[in-house]
Amino acid sequence: MRTLISGGIVINSSGPFAADVLIEGETIAALAAPGSSETISWRANADRVLDATGLYVIPGAIDGHTHMEMPFGGTHSVDTFETGTRAAAFGGTTTIIDFAIQSKGQSLREGLDAWHAKADGHCAIDYGFHMIVSDVTESSLKEMDLVVDEGVTSFKLFMAYPGVFYSTDGQILQAMQQASRSGATIMMHAENGIAIDVLVAQALARGEGDPKFHGMTRPSLLEGEATHRAIQLARVAGAPLYIVHLSAAEALDEVVAARDRGQNVFAETCPQYLFLSDADLAREGFEGAKFVCSPPLRSERTHADLWRGLRTDDLSVVSTDHCPFCFKEQKELGLGDFSKIPNGIPGVEHRVDLIFQGVDQGEISLARWVEVTSTTPARLFGLFPKKGVIAPGADADVVLYDPSASQIFSVATHHMNVDYSAYEGMAITGQVATVLSRGTVVIEGGQYVGRAGSGQFLRRGLNGYLR
Ligand code: URP
Ligand code: ZN
Ligand code: ZN
Repeated sequence: MRTLISGGIVINSSGPFAADVLIEGETIAALAAPGSSETISWRANADRVLDATGLYVIPGAIDGHTHMEMPFGGTHSVDTFETGTRAAAFGGTTTIIDFAIQSKGQSLREGLDAWHAKADGHCAIDYGFHMIVSDVTESSLKEMDLVVDEGVTSFKLFMAYPGVFYSTDGQILQAMQQASRSGATIMMHAENGIAIDVLVAQALARGEGDPKFHGMTRPSLLEGEATHRAIQLARVAGAPLYIVHLSAAEALDEVVAARDRGQNVFAETCPQYLFLSDADLAREGFEGAKFVCSPPLRSERTHADLWRGLRTDDLSVVSTDHCPFCFKEQKELGLGDFSKIPNGIPGVEHRVDLIFQGVDQGEISLARWVEVTSTTPARLFGLFPKKGVIAPGADADVVLYDPSASQIFSVATHHMNVDYSAYEGMAITGQVATVLSRGTVVIEGGQYVGRAGSGQFLRRGLNGYLR
């Protein structure tokens, strides 16, 4: 199958340029200037021509942080790998990296097998796994290297959630030492969970059970403190560190200081920290439960800090931390007690569009839009140059994006398997027009035309910034 994408503006992390793109089978075969002799002959021999006039042609986006079918607080996030990857495709994401979980008392092997059983044969787009290590023991430390050999090259540890995912500083240090030997990357949920649990108990004892107290008991200072500690532990171990879902200016300051001294510290933020705020968490009645995630939404003033971080590359990536729980029956588990509200916000479908608003509003360039949503996650998570770039030899994961379209986000029109939208009624400039996953059109004319199970498991390499 030969597909020609004609007349568009290709945008890589190096910037925009006019080019036609030839796809052969699952791979990008060549790029050439529009109207050149090459493109004339490609057109004559193409099985299919996609007209990209007026559109951007960007590498399929990579969401390095999702939670499909994730157990949390006695329930499960509601997107399956089938529904979640389909929704991702609608929004221009052609790769997700989800978190396989080692529960306490389990081996890493058991956790990884369980995630393969959930995902394999169900995904609409390609997928990989990070591994959550919640039981750092002699045997799980040894197992980390075996997991790396299977293409799961990053491990998430938690300074939050004592009794569930939490690791002590000693355990974290040991896991980092193990990672420094194998070249794996340690990802950190950096919030001081021990101190937070004290604040939560005190708030509940005062009768403060509404959703807004979720935010008030997780102050940004305790994210900054944990981020500082994680960075120092990684420094001692000589391991690369990736801070997930960074939300606070205090945490960003720590990342800036580490990067300025040349430490291999990377950080992601998420759209919810750029577009939503503690005012949403404080909405009337129980509405705020829709916005409960950890770290919590911060003050609106933080938005400017995070956009600046993205512009200056202090923040390297935007991922979604997609973790959808329905308002009815799931978020409602925490009626009267915010600590029982399952943590997480749906968003896998909206990241490319939301970050494009940053381009539209002059916060970041077109090139940076592509870089933080595709190219950098590809490099950091060992997928580059197969993913993250429009270039000969890369997988033909390609999105045709219409920058002049407009849309309104709503639960009535989104494709995520969840009963509310965190962005209900938000007016957006730009929209995905067509999506190809390894050369096959999966989204066209607002319809899903792909197939569940066509997504392949990606055995990832090591962090490309460190070799
Ligand atoms: O609230 C969140 N972030 N839920 C998902 C779990 C995590 O910590 O990433
Ligand atoms: Zn986390
Ligand atoms: Zn997460």
